[in-house]
Amino acid sequence: VPTPFAYSGNTSTGIASAIETGVRSGELAPGDQLPAVRTLAVQLSVSPGTVAAAYRMLRQRGVVETGGRRGTQVRAAPALTTARLNLRLPVPAGARDLSTGSPDGRLLPDFGPHLRRLAPKPVLYSAGVSPIEPLEKMARERLAADGIDPPGLAVTSGALDGIERVLAVHLRPGDHVAVEDPCWANLLDLLASMGLTAEPVRVDDDGPVPDSVAAAIARGARALVVTTRGQNPVGGSTSAARAKVLRALLAEYPAMVVIDDDHLGDLASTEFHPVAGSTVHWALTQSASKAYGPDLRCAVLTGDEQTISRVNGRHGMAARWVSTLLQSLLVSLWSDPEVETLVKHARQSYDERRDTLIETLADRGVGAHGKSGLNVWIPVPDETSVSARLLDAGWVVAPGRMYRIASEPAIRITISSLELAELAGLSEAVAAALYPQARSYAV
Ligand SMILES: Cc1ncc(COP(=O)(O)O)c(C=O)c1O
Repeated sequence: VPTPFAYSGNTSTGIASAIETGVRSGELAPGDQLPAVRTLAVQLSVSPGTVAAAYRMLRQRGVVETGGRRGTQVRAAPALTTARLNLRLPVPAGARDLSTGSPDGRLLPDFGPHLRRLAPKPVLYSAGVSPIEPLEKMARERLAADGIDPPGLAVTSGALDGIERVLAVHLRPGDHVAVEDPCWANLLDLLASMGLTAEPVRVDDDGPVPDSVAAAIARGARALVVTTRGQNPVGGSTSAARAKVLRALLAEYPAMVVIDDDHLGDLASTEFHPVAGSTVHWALTQSASKAYGPDLRCAVLTGDEQTISRVNGRHGMAARWVSTLLQSLLVSLWSDPEVETLVKHARQSYDERRDTLIETLADRGVGAHGKSGLNVWIPVPDETSVSARLLDAGWVVAPGRMYRIASEPAIRITISSLELAELAGLSEAVAAALYPQARSYAV
């Protein structure tokens, strides 16, 4: 039996610091319940207000969360280390890991020839800019092809960096942000670490559900983040009709900050219908991560003039700019017809793997979502038992709880590395994990 954690401290900062140390050392684990405020106050001979203040500090730093009857507990991924990665199921030798959400390394372009062709000149502080001129020019041309002529343009270190920067220049700790439920776990972690509260919005194959967006706004959400295509984990893609309704709805709330996360970018085969743009402050980020490689850490961020100006101003204070080496590499990749062919091939392969998996699952009576992107989302009654049975059968999947707030249980399968020849076997295993009593799933 592990010894109970020894709480200590006689000020709010001291109590918070002791708990933070406990979480860092592992003595307090994700999901562990903290004592009720009054109980701990009596134990430490301090006022309940002191303990409540300590809990509030930890909440605003994304270390703990408070959820109604559940009281206060350590977050699944406290914002102290790269804890989210540690939540993954272990991958036994020989098992197939379908839990990562990553693109297939074999379908990413080789940077080698591009790096050799780049002839960078020394960049000094005075010349350091984000974005570099050729990137801005190409990004604007690419956006123009989608009918977008944004007032402002920035480059950030990936899509999530852009989202953080936009939220940081508009919101304060304690503010509420509407997010799709389920959504990418890292976004939930980011919000918690910024002291922002996630307001869940229902999402289906066509994007966020308008009534649910309206309800989140009514509950006080000041911002909305929409995954434009390749919604992670559900695989939705905002349809033209849905975007129209959402834009009209949001136009009634001009103070809402609306962010479109088009992280899939050039890998998306569905049409591009951003929602952002009908409020005063908005942003759209398009990442190079999925099509060209996560290690480029480059995403183009567009938006209204004030938002982009604030983001660029703040970016210039500390990180200063996204390395021009990386920006030049992206320009070089964008300019290469061979890379264009490769990205097209990757797009088609992912679509084929995803669509075929959904078909082979349907043949076995298993319903799944995945209109766009690298993931398939399969509703299940019990994530733990289904994930465990699949693990037994040699398939590592992601339990949906990492992505959910109030939505129903499911598992996420990343399709990016799957071979077509594996899909029948995988679908059998999923059906067997879901319906363990049934004897045969042969079709
Ligand atoms: C919805 C969503 N947004 C953003 C990202 C990450 O993009 P970036 O590497 O550009 O931060 C991911 C990665 O999986 C994602 O699923």
